[in-house]
Amino acid sequence: MAGASYDACWLRYEPATEEQISSYRRLFSHAYVSDGAPELVAVREELRHGIGGVTGREPHVWHHPPQSVEAFLTIGLPDEMRPISETVDIAAVQGLNPDGYVIRSVTWEGIDCTVVTAPNDRGLVYGTFHLLRLLTTSEPVDDLDIVEEPANEERIINHWDNPFHRSVERGYAGPSIFDWESLPDRRERYVDYARLLASVGINGISVNNVNTKISAREGANEAVSQWAGWQLLESANLEKVAALASVFRRYGIRTYLSVNYAAPMLVGDLETADPLNSAVEQWWATKADEIYDLIPDFGGFVMKADSEGQTGPYDYGRDHAEGANVIARALAPHDGRVWWRAFVYSDHNDRAVQAYDTFEPLDGTFEDNVTVQVKNGPIDFQPREPISTLFGTMPETTLSCELQITQEYTGQGVHTSFLVPQWKEVLEFDTYADGEGTPVKDVLRSEPGQGIVGVGLVGEDPNWTGHYLAQANLYGFGRLAWDPDLMAETIVDEWIRGTFGHDPNVVKTLSWILLDSWGASIDYHTGGLGLMHLMYNGSAALENHYDPAPEEWPVYHGASAEEIGIDRTSTGSGYVEQYREPIAERYESVKTCPEELLLFFHRLPWDHELADGTTVVQRLYDNCHAGVEAVRSYRDAWKSLEGNVDDHRHRHIAERFDEQVVQAAKWCNVLCQFFYDHSDIPDKRERLEN
Ligand code: GCU
Repeated sequence: MAGASYDACWLRYEPATEEQISSYRRLFSHAYVSDGAPELVAVREELRHGIGGVTGREPHVWHHPPQSVEAFLTIGLPDEMRPISETVDIAAVQGLNPDGYVIRSVTWEGIDCTVVTAPNDRGLVYGTFHLLRLLTTSEPVDDLDIVEEPANEERIINHWDNPFHRSVERGYAGPSIFDWESLPDRRERYVDYARLLASVGINGISVNNVNTKISAREGANEAVSQWAGWQLLESANLEKVAALASVFRRYGIRTYLSVNYAAPMLVGDLETADPLNSAVEQWWATKADEIYDLIPDFGGFVMKADSEGQTGPYDYGRDHAEGANVIARALAPHDGRVWWRAFVYSDHNDRAVQAYDTFEPLDGTFEDNVTVQVKNGPIDFQPREPISTLFGTMPETTLSCELQITQEYTGQGVHTSFLVPQWKEVLEFDTYADGEGTPVKDVLRSEPGQGIVGVGLVGEDPNWTGHYLAQANLYGFGRLAWDPDLMAETIVDEWIRGTFGHDPNVVKTLSWILLDSWGASIDYHTGGLGLMHLMYNGSAALENHYDPAPEEWPVYHGASAEEIGIDRTSTGSGYVEQYREPIAERYESVKTCPEELLLFFHRLPWDHELADGTTVVQRLYDNCHAGVEAVRSYRDAWKSLEGNVDDHRHRHIAERFDEQVVQAAKWCNVLCQFFYDHSDIPDKRERLEN
């Protein structure tokens, strides 16, 4: 990335602070690194970048333990080289979960050694990035004793990139970084992307859109069908996939593909994709063999079936377990996995109930190598949703939680909305799956095939994410997928120091902006009482999802002259009953339902009084305005950092904040006008103009 025409994100490796630099130089001017697996090439390269940048001197990399030095860094598997084999408990290191690692300060033959070791080569990559993170955050490193294991086995990015056409569904950072025309030629940018992902612990990447046959979507035309990702399963294209996979492999990242359910017909020449047809079963098995010949560590397939125009098992009268299992059996001999999305819905009075209705009855019927990939909430990546009921109700099924890193409904490439606090809320939510104290993060933890999936946001834009501050969401996603117990404050602090350096004013101001920003986004996008999906849709082929248009969505807000909200209690759509107790009881009652979700679960009079005596309509007004005020204060605070941040990034972000203020005010005005126009109550207050 050094010298590249695009941004280095949090891997800038700028000089360490005065107080640390001499210690870093003493400890890391020499490195002895194993030269076994391809991952070790990546490790050596990263040490050159990282230590070179932070200390101003690239380390001398040895092929044997250096003798006449004061200190050195050594990286390798525990049993393969001195001094590691002589200074760590080999069995303990080998007993760590895959991808875990140990970083320890030891003395060996009178020399101060910093040891990085792991049960597998991927762990060495993660351990190296951890050590470098300590340097970029200016931590002391003289006396380290770190043992890390990832909480989630699978930490995967899903790209919604349309191959060949290079457009990105819900992408706000320019065209796709994957240039399928020129693959198998490899771009330096792929390597740098792999570095960014590995540095935060991501170990899987699905490279194409879940909508693999876009022509099926209403309104899409023939030209659009040209960029359909189902073609990646064709033999000629698999060679291109293999080239990408070889780049990611060096960083411990497995490659996955989104595939179309009708692939046996589209790619093969069968006349059906019926999962119970033996020719179909054979087709998938043969295709899997072909892929694994080219890509031995291929991760598997992501599948969107029976949803938004994609084909699926329902087309053949089969259920989703039958649909997934035939493909899973093809992948099983190769250690591959099907990521079967639970995002299945059709016309229905309440879309919220559908994922559970479809999947819960199938609990326990999926093959072991099927992961049911569940969106965090029951609707669709809204600014705030209640947590999907499936996390608490499918104990016999391997599950993953799908989060959206790209900001489809939270301001796209313009608004600052740092989503780690949202994801923390999701992961900390107590499902009661196994009695009290079973948060989502524990439902997902440490089981093979379980984990966290994020819909990616990276594109060709020189800053990767369209908005410099959106880089924090990619960073935070990876860190949280590795360790959901991390605090949002810690993640923000790390990201800012790696990205903007240590100026206390920058660290303090930007931490506050980021940590506060999701709340503001909820306020002006929804009014903060649980309403959602109030955005402008646009045409099916060119959906907007950015501007406000609440009048388009009566089924999501339920506004009438008397009331607002949706009744999802036992007297309404019954969604509430899909939760375990005592969650169901808590949401069922207006008295105990948390205010921030009130109108998601309940339809209430506009002048219903909240706990502090304020009416619903007044609170909606107040929250919308508070959201705008918050964004104004971010804009002003950011302006005050002029001169503390380089001009280019300062200007870029300042312009985004200017625009966010305009957009937030627009949302506030449109929503408040909408509430005002609908609510037929005597004492409603005039909305405030923004
Ligand atoms: C949302 C999004 C679509 C996407 C879908 C999905 O509805 O707007 O673009 O295809 O989610 O998750 O499959």
